[in-house]
Amino acid sequence: MNDVRTVVEVKALTKVYPGAAKAAVSALNLTLHPGEIVALLGPNGAGKTTAVKMIAGLVLPTAGSVHVMGHDMMRAHTAGVRHIGAVLEGARNLYWRLSAEENLRYFGALRLTPRRQLAGRIDELLSLFGLEAQRSQEVRHFSRGMQQKLAIAAALLHDPDLLLLDEPTLGLDVKAARQLEETIAHLAREQGKAILLTTHMMDVAEKLAQRITVIHQGQEVISEETQSLLRCYSAQRDLVEIHVAGTVPQALWNQVQQMIPDATISGENGMTQLLLPALDQALLLRLLQQLDAGGMAIQEVGRRRARLEEIFLSLTESEQMDG
Ligand SMILES: Nc1ncnc2c1ncn2[C@@H]1O[C@H](COP(=O)(O)OP(=O)(O)O)[C@@H](O)[C@H]1O
Ligand SMILES: [Mg+2]
Repeated sequence: MNDVRTVVEVKALTKVYPGAAKAAVSALNLTLHPGEIVALLGPNGAGKTTAVKMIAGLVLPTAGSVHVMGHDMMRAHTAGVRHIGAVLEGARNLYWRLSAEENLRYFGALRLTPRRQLAGRIDELLSLFGLEAQRSQEVRHFSRGMQQKLAIAAALLHDPDLLLLDEPTLGLDVKAARQLEETIAHLAREQGKAILLTTHMMDVAEKLAQRITVIHQGQEVISEETQSLLRCYSAQRDLVEIHVAGTVPQALWNQVQQMIPDATISGENGMTQLLLPALDQALLLRLLQQLDAGGMAIQEVGRRRARLEEIFLSLTESEQMDG
């Protein structure tokens, strides 16, 4: 079951917070091998941070298991934790009044990194993250991007096999985000780290991860190779939105659905919104004619990008995908 090539194996991982009506994470499965980057993708509140905290051994699961390098995180926590480096959202990852180097020395000592190795390791990491010039600078003067790089460097001091990154590029400017993405890719490719990252942004997952697990309301929606997920997603990326006054009679709606099976309908404030996948012009015109012939007053027709929430929803509703 736990072959040596498996860095982390998560099975049916579930968390119900005390007093919560619903599970924050429900029966999540994940497997990572060396050199692999997997993204846990989902909107805010999906359960990403909770999942990562359980894998890091910081939140006790309600059910399920986590094995890290073969160690059961419930039974052999200390052995497992040695193989994990984690940078969690909103956690106290650094000391503001210490310099970059002092932070790394402090966290290295915490991680029981042998003194002889530590100095070399610190040099290596400062160089890898391009922070040599900031070595003696206090962290409170750092940009958000530099702080994040240093926090990840600190998580790598003990050379873990598994790196957990919760929303690693959140709040970074474009340039800093790109730099960090390159370093994350490098860590997997050149150092064989297995990296589990969370994000609510499709493009971050798309750029970095070989596989993406989408979660929504604690539930896995889909878990796929990034390339095949993208094929599925791109078809749903562009939407046509039509607003008509009043309500659409059932018979007319049935006709619309026959023409465009993926159409969805919702109404509020005396308006009805039809949401359709990208259509070619001819089909769109036929649809508008049909609505017109059906006596509907068309108020607005527009094309827009699907919001991630809508894609998640459509993925949740679609039973199968090809690819
Ligand atoms: N410590 C906690 N106690 C109770 N509920 C929590 C706690 N942390 C998170 N939650 C709830 O669990 C759900 C998932 O949250 P979270 O894991 O932070 O999601 P994400 O990281 O995807 O935004 C949310 O409904 C959130 O309100
Ligand atoms: Mg989170």
